Amino acid sequence: MSAPFQAGVAVHHRCGLHPPSPAALEQKLVVSGGVALSGHVRISGAKNSALPILAATLCCDDASAISRVPDLLDTRSMAAVLRSLGARVEWPEGADGGELVVDASAAGAGPPCSNELGKTRAGFLVIGPLLGRFGEAEVGLPGGCNIGARPVDLYLRGLRALGAVVEMKQDKVVAYAAKGKRLTGGTFYLNYPSVGATETLMMAASLADGVTVLLNAAKEPEVSDLAEFLTACGARVHGAGTSIVTIKGVSKLHGTEFTIIPDRIEAGTFMVAASITCSKLSMSPVIPRHLTSVIDKLSASGCTITQTGRCSLEVSALKSRHSAGLRGFDFKTCPYPGFPTDLQPQFMALLCTCNGSSLVEESVFESRMTHVEELKKLGAKIHVCSRHVLVNGKDRGSLLFGAPVMAHDIRGGAALVLAGMAAEGTTEVLGAQHIERGYENFVAKLNSLGASIRRNQDAQLTLSSIM
Ligand code: UD1
Repeated sequence: MSAPFQAGVAVHHRCGLHPPSPAALEQKLVVSGGVALSGHVRISGAKNSALPILAATLCCDDASAISRVPDLLDTRSMAAVLRSLGARVEWPEGADGGELVVDASAAGAGPPCSNELGKTRAGFLVIGPLLGRFGEAEVGLPGGCNIGARPVDLYLRGLRALGAVVEMKQDKVVAYAAKGKRLTGGTFYLNYPSVGATETLMMAASLADGVTVLLNAAKEPEVSDLAEFLTACGARVHGAGTSIVTIKGVSKLHGTEFTIIPDRIEAGTFMVAASITCSKLSMSPVIPRHLTSVIDKLSASGCTITQTGRCSLEVSALKSRHSAGLRGFDFKTCPYPGFPTDLQPQFMALLCTCNGSSLVEESVFESRMTHVEELKKLGAKIHVCSRHVLVNGKDRGSLLFGAPVMAHDIRGGAALVLAGMAAEGTTEVLGAQHIERGYENFVAKLNSLGASIRRNQDAQLTLSSIM
């Protein structure tokens, strides 16, 4: 099923299409190719869980202590959004384990700081808690990654189904509960299982009067993690992780202690790092069940993946005298439990180094392909036709060699670093600040495994060669 891109949706906000500022262009990674990796990597907490859970702290009347929050530009932006609403956020500098305390007891309806909201699409999630708790919200339209049109029509239609009046005023959404101060439960069918819309509606419905039923809800593990958090705060959420989620509204939520799930996308990225460098790596903590579609594809390719403990995996793509390397494979991105769109660019980089030709279909985002032109600069032989991509492997002409390339988004940027590690020579990845929006200590973690990646702020010299 492809995501809906119908013309004339209620709100159709194209984000990230502004040219990057000169300062943003200055962050560069210099990646030496041909280095093998080994050792163990610690996987951080899931960005896509941490962001909605931080937003959900606004539903609570007192403090929550949240562990394993990854220290990222996106989570920092969300913390700034919460502070701008009057919440107290304590994030001890250098704290190991990412422990954060958020006390939203003194928070108000806002509006939140538009500057911080514009830095991450997830900032828009606060519309759910604000409407639920205060019966009113005024939130700027979201910013975020450069991966195509990302409308919020489902969020807004769902909030209307809960009795909200929703109006567009220039580049912001103004919404309020029609019946007095509280939303009322209702049934809402999502015509696409949007992760963010499901999360927004779960938060709003937790503080509505009556019962809400979400049909065709997103089933991502991060949605279930948010439901666990809300439940720990006193909410009554049932069925999260399935396509029907039922929420019985309560009058208020209290704070709690909570630990974020490990990041399956970061784990999948390190699985590609092991595979693309023909290495062996172990990683923990992971929840192997969250990685089923990824493990399935890598195993079919010839990697050996072993569950070495309840929360640990080992990935081996070591070459033997008899093996001819990994085999290419086809995949299509889909909502969970399908193959995650957030691993599409990294897997495309890997396919360039496999044998044979592979077909990739991107069904979630309409234009998540900005990494393709950059991979081609490294020597990849890739052909794109709309959302379908043919990737020729190393025996069909893709021979990766170092070159200057530009990262345009988080996952595409990670893919370029991975490709650079497999390429002959040195690859310069400009726009590397995108990567740090989504990966905690990415460079330090890779270097601790044996990679050779250097930061260089002085990127201006090479800009002319790639623009
Ligand atoms: C979340 C993840 C992101 C991931 C994506 C899909 C977070 C913070 N981000 O993003 O990393 O790539 O899920 O797994 O959790 N859509 C509409 N109307 C809407 C909402 C969405 O048409 O109102 C479309 C989008 O344009 C897109 C598709 O639905 O094509 C999926 O979007 P969605 O599931 O909402 O992704 P996000 O929550 O933005």
